[in-house]
Amino acid sequence: MPREADPLRRLSLEQLRQRTSMKWRTYPEDVLPLWVAEMDVPLAEPVARAITEAVALGDTGYPAGTAYAEALAGFARERWGWDGLAVERTAIVPDVMLGIVEMLKLVSGPSEPVVVNSPVYPPFYQFVGNLGRPVVEAPLGADGRIDFAVLEGAFREVAAHANQPVYLLCSPHNPTGTVHTADELTRVALLARTYGVRVVADEIHAPIVAAGASFVPYLSVPGGENGLSLMSASKAWNLAGLKAALAIAGPDAADDLARLPEEVSHGPSHVGIIAHTAALRDGGDWLDAVLSGLDDNRQLLADLLAEHLPGVRYAPAQATYLAWLDCRDLGLGDDPAAVFLERGRVALSSGTDFGTGGAGFVRLNLATSPELITEAVRRMAAAIRAAS
Ligand SMILES: Cc1ncc(COP(=O)(O)O)c(C=O)c1O
Repeated sequence: MPREADPLRRLSLEQLRQRTSMKWRTYPEDVLPLWVAEMDVPLAEPVARAITEAVALGDTGYPAGTAYAEALAGFARERWGWDGLAVERTAIVPDVMLGIVEMLKLVSGPSEPVVVNSPVYPPFYQFVGNLGRPVVEAPLGADGRIDFAVLEGAFREVAAHANQPVYLLCSPHNPTGTVHTADELTRVALLARTYGVRVVADEIHAPIVAAGASFVPYLSVPGGENGLSLMSASKAWNLAGLKAALAIAGPDAADDLARLPEEVSHGPSHVGIIAHTAALRDGGDWLDAVLSGLDDNRQLLADLLAEHLPGVRYAPAQATYLAWLDCRDLGLGDDPAAVFLERGRVALSSGTDFGTGGAGFVRLNLATSPELITEAVRRMAAAIRAAS
């Protein structure tokens, strides 16, 4: 691929600083932001075209139809070889996190526990907690994979005290980028059935896999038929500002999804749905260009860290555009992100927000240009020098 075709290399820092979104407006101008999961890319051309056409037509009313689900079903067939996404077992929801909240309400009662694999995306704690459901951690193993003894222990514990426990699976996993294998997901399904735990899978990062890795939808594995999944084009095509996601039920969860209150599907924006649909239907080439740029960026980060910050441990992930950096040997305490921000003027996500297993780690967002990744590592190294 010609380098200029890589969407991650198209925008200058000056252009990015004109953005008004969270990534670019939370910190002062002298801070380089590589934290929240927004991508430093121009909008994919098919998405921009679809939105522009909608605006030209004044097509800004309420949503109708199943185009989004049909586009996702086509994408699932093509990319994951999965034919099981039935449009009639889907519902549009405003975004993935609000979709998760609604799925939890469908399959569990108030105060029923929710098992998560820490370290995990911080809103899992906030949204689940705000719903009054206690979060039970089943930490990942040191290799970043599901530890089945720990998971079974958590399932046994919640099953002993609750009627409708839930497991909120993050697949691929944020922040480690772990891609769960078909075997692992089949084991999850078996364990969940054994202990009467319902599985809600957050599969928002599914399209973003590294070369050689394959995403497996939870609903496609044996035993996963009573699962619920949340998917969206928002991470892979940077559409978080164009709210729309899909809840998908396995065949044995269709009755649960059918109880979703109608007003929930009133939340997503019609223009958002148009954008997500165009991304999934026509944005494959653009996605491939991003995936190839991300492969380069993972390697670049590994090289830069080896050269400038050898004390940081980093294993390039199989999925997501996030890098989970083990900074425990740097002697910066539990929250190295605070030191990198204060002394290096680079904003990373603090590992402590990700629950047990996050202390001493930072998460770095690789969905940017090689220049900005290089500058971020330069600033991190300068912060270490200043701290020592
Ligand atoms: C695992 C995971 N789930 C959900 C979200 C947020 O999705 P949404 O904006 O659709 O709620 C993110 C955003 O980074 C994420 O990483």
